[in-house]
Amino acid sequence: MRFSWFVVAVCAAAAMLFAGSVSAQRRSHARGDSREALTLSPAEAAEMLSGMRTYLETVQGIVSALAENKVARVPEIAARSGAKLLGSMNPITGLKAPIGFTMMSLDTHDKFDKLAEKARRGTSRTEVLTDLQDILGNCTGCHAAYRLAR
Ligand code: HEC
Repeated sequence: MRFSWFVVAVCAAAAMLFAGSVSAQRRSHARGDSREALTLSPAEAAEMLSGMRTYLETVQGIVSALAENKVARVPEIAARSGAKLLGSMNPITGLKAPIGFTMMSLDTHDKFDKLAEKARRGTSRTEVLTDLQDILGNCTGCHAAYRLAR
């Protein structure tokens, strides 16, 4: 799986370089909603939403750890939303989704892994909070740009 997602990342980066924006023709404007619609199968959509709920649980776990001043709990919690979460997903979904979506998704998993690694080496609450702020920027940025087609 690790290898498959590496292939997805390389393909996505290559497509971004050579194909430019492929998203324009796929943009479908639901009334009052300018987010780009992702067309996934019901199983793929369920898988993606399950991953999203894991993200939210991770954010909750990190905030709780910070509130209780237990930075030592952060590595294990953050790693749940790292690249290993992709292991439960079909790599084809990453290729079907718009390039920007896939890149932002891979970047978010990477940020959680980096936070886990940093916290493992020992870091401050403020640094964890700053990294979380950055990660939440990915959450809101992607949610502002994409939605599931229905
Ligand atoms: C790569 C894009 C992307 C990123 C990054 C992303 N999301 Fe999502 N998320 C989506 C999309 C698309 C939906 C479906 C929204 C819709 O159809 O209206 C969604 C839905 C959700 C849902 C609803 C789940 C359900 O069961 O209905 C939650 C909760 C969520 N995201 C949390 C998060 C959190 C927390 C983060 C950051 C740690 C995050 N997401 C990052 C794209 C993303």
